[in-house]
Amino acid sequence: MNKQPIRLAVLGLGTVGTGVVRLLQANFAEIKRRTGRNIVITHVGTRRTRDDIDKHIKQSADLLQIVVADDVDIVVEVIGGTGVAKDVIIEAIKHGKHVVTANKALLAEHGNEIFALADAHQVKVAYEASVAGGIPIIKIVREALSANKIDWLAGIINGTGNFILTEMREKGRSFADVLAEAQALGYAESDPTFDVEGIDAAHKLTLLASIAFGIPLQFDKVYCEGITKITTQDVKYAEELGYRIKHLGFAVRRELDNGEQGIELRVHPTLIPADELLANVNGVKNAVLVDAHPVGQTMYYGAGAGAGATASAVMADVTDIVRMLNNIGENSNPNFVPHLAFLPQHLDNTRILSSDEIISGYYLRVQVKDDVGVLAKITHILSLLGIGIDAILQKPAHELGEVPIIIMVDPVLEGKMNEAIANIEALDSVVDKVVRIRLDELVE
Ligand code: HSE
Repeated sequence: MNKQPIRLAVLGLGTVGTGVVRLLQANFAEIKRRTGRNIVITHVGTRRTRDDIDKHIKQSADLLQIVVADDVDIVVEVIGGTGVAKDVIIEAIKHGKHVVTANKALLAEHGNEIFALADAHQVKVAYEASVAGGIPIIKIVREALSANKIDWLAGIINGTGNFILTEMREKGRSFADVLAEAQALGYAESDPTFDVEGIDAAHKLTLLASIAFGIPLQFDKVYCEGITKITTQDVKYAEELGYRIKHLGFAVRRELDNGEQGIELRVHPTLIPADELLANVNGVKNAVLVDAHPVGQTMYYGAGAGAGATASAVMADVTDIVRMLNNIGENSNPNFVPHLAFLPQHLDNTRILSSDEIISGYYLRVQVKDDVGVLAKITHILSLLGIGIDAILQKPAHELGEVPIIIMVDPVLEGKMNEAIANIEALDSVVDKVVRIRLDELVE
């Protein structure tokens, strides 16, 4: 076996980059026992020179020069974003370097182009760290479940959002206070609106959906709603009804009434039964529940963000590439596991459904004047549209004579739900916009 060391360039020395440097220092011998090779960092890309980095490692802000250097075999991109990160990855691929990245935004938005380029240049672009931090979910869906037909998956895939919802529910802490803590702990994105508006989860869901269903990456078609409108009042009512509110990403393959296949891609707050495992995933932890045939439901849980968890996923990808390099021959293809799980020529164009075509249960909170007959009018609107009611909770009137009515309805087309909500809001007794949160029983 070729005993030359494998040389890494680590681009970006933020939370994750620093985690990678530390992990390699700490677990160098363990990784060598698994790969048979020394893995060394020859370059780090950083704007500011750091004196806590080994003096044998070259430090530079000139990333484009680093990725073409002769003493680099694998480029680890942990800068983030879709600007300079894209340029350096493309340059690295063109120079025949393998790439490991944690950059979900870049792959969700430009992955089709990047993977095609990598295939053309016979290099790997590995991205385990881009989804669910330390949970090896890419490997699981792409390889371990490869004999299954995946029907749907649902995941808590943003650690910051889950941390905020958990602290609001358990401690009644304010949104801003918890977000500041997530930022201080290095969990939040550099632009935290990506976490709280659901964009980060939508990036990750885009990747999961492609490897689950064999479709091109289509971030622009994900329905995306964040957690900023969730109130402690709704969290409390959900609890009373036996549910918890979680921010979930759903990728669902469905047969439509006309017999065609369609795919729902959506991230939004969701009520799920409080006794479901997923409902008990708290703090910065992530979890992904996969419903596949014939294996049934399987669930994967772990730290979704943070230096150690993300570095673990980055270095697992490096290990995979090193093993591949140990065995590669003249005609071997480094992408024997296709980037998007299915062979590029076999990706299909199953239609991504519009938000009106989504099917979901709903929790509705309707704020009404305490008038006689208002509840009957609301239930009449629902029944006219064939929407089944699962539960109703009416709270006592407060001093203004207003009452919150909570209604949980059975799964229905979102277009129909929108129509019902518009009709309810038009009633004289209804004093505010209807609060609507989707609801899912997560049944097989
Ligand atoms: N901001 C992300 C999160 C980091 O909170 O999950 C990991 O992708």
